[in-house]
Amino acid sequence: MDDRIERILLRREQIDRRVSELASEIAATYPPDGPGLTIVAILAGSIIFLADLIRRIPRAMKIGLITVSSYPGRSTMSQGPVILQDLRGEIEGRDVLVVDDILDTGRTIRCVVDQVRQFGPASVRVCVLLRKAGKAPADVRADFVGFDIEDVFVVGYGLDYDDLYRNYPHIGVLAGVTSQAGEGSR
Ligand code: XMP
Repeated sequence: MDDRIERILLRREQIDRRVSELASEIAATYPPDGPGLTIVAILAGSIIFLADLIRRIPRAMKIGLITVSSYPGRSTMSQGPVILQDLRGEIEGRDVLVVDDILDTGRTIRCVVDQVRQFGPASVRVCVLLRKAGKAPADVRADFVGFDIEDVFVVGYGLDYDDLYRNYPHIGVLAGVTSQAGEGSR
Protein backbone atom coordinates (compact mmCIF):
# COMPACT_ATOMS: atom_id res chain seq x y z
CA MET A 1 0.00 0.00 0.00
CA ASP A 2 2.78 2.43 0.79
CA ASP A 3 4.98 1.81 -2.22
CA ARG A 4 4.37 5.34 -3.49
CA ILE A 5 4.93 7.05 -0.17
CA GLU A 6 8.19 8.87 -0.67
CA ARG A 7 8.65 9.74 2.99
CA ILE A 8 6.71 9.97 6.20
CA LEU A 9 6.11 13.57 7.20
CA LEU A 10 4.22 12.95 10.44
CA ARG A 11 4.13 9.64 12.27
CA ARG A 12 0.92 8.36 13.80
CA GLU A 13 2.25 8.79 17.36
CA GLN A 14 3.12 12.42 16.68
CA ILE A 15 -0.33 13.03 15.17
CA ASP A 16 -1.97 11.34 18.13
CA ARG A 17 -0.19 13.56 20.64
CA ARG A 18 -1.03 16.72 18.75
CA VAL A 19 -4.70 15.78 18.37
CA SER A 20 -4.90 15.44 22.16
CA GLU A 21 -3.37 18.89 22.57
CA LEU A 22 -5.80 20.37 20.08
CA ALA A 23 -8.73 18.79 21.90
CA SER A 24 -7.55 20.39 25.15
CA GLU A 25 -7.20 23.79 23.47
CA ILE A 26 -10.70 23.47 22.02
CA ALA A 27 -12.24 22.34 25.31
CA ALA A 28 -10.64 25.31 27.06
CA THR A 29 -12.13 27.66 24.46
CA TYR A 30 -15.71 26.42 24.82
CA PRO A 31 -16.99 26.45 28.40
CA PRO A 32 -19.54 23.75 29.29
CA ASP A 33 -22.22 26.38 29.92
CA GLY A 34 -21.91 28.02 26.49
CA PRO A 35 -24.66 28.25 23.87
CA GLY A 36 -23.91 24.76 22.59
CA LEU A 37 -21.21 23.48 20.27
CA THR A 38 -21.76 22.30 16.69
CA ILE A 39 -18.90 20.73 14.78
CA VAL A 40 -19.21 21.19 11.03
CA ALA A 41 -16.82 18.70 9.46
CA ILE A 42 -15.91 18.66 5.80
CA LEU A 43 -16.03 15.23 4.19
CA ALA A 44 -14.23 13.09 3.41
CA GLY A 45 -10.69 14.10 4.25
CA SER A 46 -11.48 15.02 7.84
CA ILE A 47 -13.06 11.71 8.86
CA ILE A 48 -10.20 10.17 10.80
CA PHE A 49 -9.07 13.44 12.34
CA LEU A 50 -12.68 14.17 13.31
CA ALA A 51 -13.19 10.77 14.92
CA ASP A 52 -10.02 11.09 16.99
CA LEU A 53 -10.57 14.73 17.89
CA ILE A 54 -14.20 14.74 19.02
CA ARG A 55 -13.77 11.81 21.38
CA ARG A 56 -11.21 13.85 23.29
CA ILE A 57 -13.35 16.97 23.68
CA PRO A 58 -15.47 16.48 26.80
CA ARG A 59 -18.34 18.71 25.72
CA ALA A 60 -21.88 18.08 24.54
CA MET A 61 -21.80 18.62 20.79
CA LYS A 62 -23.73 18.16 17.59
CA ILE A 63 -21.92 16.97 14.49
CA GLY A 64 -22.82 18.13 11.00
CA LEU A 65 -21.07 16.46 8.08
CA ILE A 66 -20.89 18.41 4.86
CA THR A 67 -19.55 17.87 1.41
CA VAL A 68 -17.97 20.63 -0.61
CA SER A 69 -17.77 19.47 -4.15
CA SER A 70 -14.34 19.61 -5.65
CA TYR A 71 -13.48 22.37 -7.99
CA PRO A 72 -12.69 21.34 -11.54
CA GLY A 73 -9.12 22.25 -12.28
CA ARG A 74 -8.92 23.70 -8.78
CA SER A 75 -9.90 27.04 -10.21
CA THR A 76 -13.46 27.62 -9.05
CA MET A 77 -15.73 26.42 -6.30
CA SER A 78 -18.34 24.52 -8.24
CA GLN A 79 -20.86 24.41 -5.42
CA GLY A 80 -23.12 27.28 -4.48
CA PRO A 81 -24.68 28.19 -1.15
CA VAL A 82 -26.58 24.94 -0.74
CA ILE A 83 -24.07 22.84 1.12
CA LEU A 84 -25.22 23.82 4.58
CA GLN A 85 -28.95 24.19 4.14
CA ASP A 86 -29.81 21.12 6.20
CA LEU A 87 -27.70 22.39 9.11
CA ARG A 88 -29.46 25.71 9.67
CA GLY A 89 -31.05 24.52 12.91
CA GLU A 90 -27.75 23.23 14.24
CA ILE A 91 -25.94 26.50 13.53
CA GLU A 92 -28.23 29.35 14.55
CA GLY A 93 -27.26 30.73 17.97
CA ARG A 94 -24.63 28.06 18.58
CA ASP A 95 -20.83 27.99 18.67
CA VAL A 96 -19.66 26.47 15.40
CA LEU A 97 -16.30 24.80 14.90
CA VAL A 98 -15.49 24.00 11.27
CA VAL A 99 -13.13 21.01 11.04
CA ASP A 100 -11.11 20.13 7.95
CA ASP A 101 -8.07 18.06 7.15
CA ILE A 102 -5.94 20.71 5.53
CA LEU A 103 -5.89 24.43 4.85
CA ASP A 104 -4.22 24.90 1.52
CA THR A 105 -5.32 27.80 -0.69
CA GLY A 106 -8.11 28.60 1.75
CA ARG A 107 -10.92 28.45 -0.81
CA THR A 108 -12.76 25.64 0.92
CA ILE A 109 -12.64 27.16 4.39
CA ARG A 110 -13.64 30.57 3.08
CA CYS A 111 -16.67 29.09 1.32
CA VAL A 112 -17.83 27.10 4.35
CA VAL A 113 -17.24 29.86 6.90
CA ASP A 114 -19.10 32.39 4.73
CA GLN A 115 -22.10 30.08 4.58
CA VAL A 116 -22.03 29.23 8.28
CA ARG A 117 -22.09 32.97 9.08
CA GLN A 118 -25.30 33.40 7.08
CA PHE A 119 -27.13 31.17 9.55
CA GLY A 120 -26.47 33.36 12.58
CA PRO A 121 -24.11 31.33 14.76
CA ALA A 122 -22.97 32.63 18.16
CA SER A 123 -19.37 32.18 16.97
CA VAL A 124 -17.42 30.52 14.14
CA ARG A 125 -13.96 29.08 14.53
CA VAL A 126 -11.86 26.82 12.32
CA CYS A 127 -9.75 23.79 13.20
CA VAL A 128 -7.47 22.09 10.68
CA LEU A 129 -5.00 19.30 11.21
CA LEU A 130 -2.59 20.63 8.60
CA ARG A 131 -1.86 24.04 7.17
CA LYS A 132 0.38 24.72 4.21
CA ALA A 133 2.20 27.70 5.59
CA GLY A 134 1.83 30.94 3.76
CA LYS A 135 -0.60 29.77 1.07
CA ALA A 136 -4.01 30.95 2.24
CA PRO A 137 -4.76 34.68 2.17
CA ALA A 138 -4.43 36.47 5.49
CA ASP A 139 -8.19 36.79 6.00
CA VAL A 140 -8.70 33.00 5.88
CA ARG A 141 -7.51 31.95 9.28
CA ALA A 142 -7.61 28.78 11.32
CA ASP A 143 -7.99 29.16 15.08
CA PHE A 144 -6.65 25.69 15.85
CA VAL A 145 -3.86 24.18 13.73
CA GLY A 146 -2.26 20.79 14.23
CA PHE A 147 0.84 21.21 12.10
CA ASP A 148 2.24 23.72 9.65
CA ILE A 149 3.71 21.78 6.76
CA GLU A 150 5.68 22.51 3.65
CA ASP A 151 3.92 22.80 0.29
CA VAL A 152 3.92 19.12 -0.69
CA PHE A 153 1.06 16.79 -1.55
CA VAL A 154 0.31 14.64 1.46
CA VAL A 155 -1.82 11.55 1.99
CA GLY A 156 -2.85 9.35 4.87
CA TYR A 157 -4.84 9.81 8.08
CA GLY A 158 -7.90 10.59 5.98
CA LEU A 159 -6.21 12.47 3.16
CA ASP A 160 -6.40 10.81 -0.20
CA TYR A 161 -5.02 10.68 -3.67
CA ASP A 162 -7.66 9.42 -6.09
CA ASP A 163 -9.57 8.19 -3.04
CA LEU A 164 -6.68 5.96 -1.98
CA TYR A 165 -4.41 6.16 1.08
CA ARG A 166 -7.07 7.49 3.48
CA ASN A 167 -6.39 4.52 5.77
CA TYR A 168 -2.60 4.95 5.73
CA PRO A 169 -1.93 5.59 9.42
CA HIS A 170 0.83 8.18 9.06
CA ILE A 171 0.88 11.32 6.93
CA GLY A 172 3.23 10.85 4.03
CA VAL A 173 4.42 12.61 0.92
CA LEU A 174 3.34 10.92 -2.28
CA ALA A 175 6.04 10.36 -4.86
CA GLY A 176 5.58 12.02 -8.21
CA VAL A 177 2.68 14.29 -7.24
CA THR A 178 3.27 17.98 -6.96
CA SER A 179 1.14 19.98 -4.58
CA GLN A 180 -0.33 22.02 -7.43
CA ALA A 181 -1.10 19.03 -9.66
CA GLY A 182 -2.38 16.77 -6.95
CA GLU A 183 -6.03 16.82 -6.09
CA GLY A 184 -7.49 14.71 -3.37
CA SER A 185 -11.08 13.62 -3.71
CA ARG A 186 -12.04 15.66 -0.64
P1 XMP B 1 -8.06 24.55 -0.22
O1 XMP B 1 -7.10 24.85 -1.34
O2 XMP B 1 -9.48 24.82 -0.58
O3 XMP B 1 -7.89 23.00 -0.10
O4 XMP B 1 -7.60 25.14 1.09
C1 XMP B 1 -8.45 22.27 0.87
C2 XMP B 1 -8.81 20.92 0.33
O5 XMP B 1 -7.98 20.51 -0.77
C3 XMP B 1 -7.58 19.19 -0.60
N1 XMP B 1 -6.10 19.18 -0.47
C4 XMP B 1 -5.35 18.11 -0.29
N2 XMP B 1 -5.68 16.82 -0.18
N3 XMP B 1 -3.40 16.27 0.11
C5 XMP B 1 -4.69 15.90 0.01
O6 XMP B 1 -4.98 14.71 0.13
C6 XMP B 1 -2.98 17.55 0.00
O7 XMP B 1 -1.79 17.83 0.10
C7 XMP B 1 -4.02 18.51 -0.20
N4 XMP B 1 -4.00 19.85 -0.34
C8 XMP B 1 -5.30 20.23 -0.50
C9 XMP B 1 -8.26 18.69 0.65
O8 XMP B 1 -9.45 18.04 0.26
C10 XMP B 1 -8.61 19.92 1.43
O9 XMP B 1 -9.76 19.80 2.22
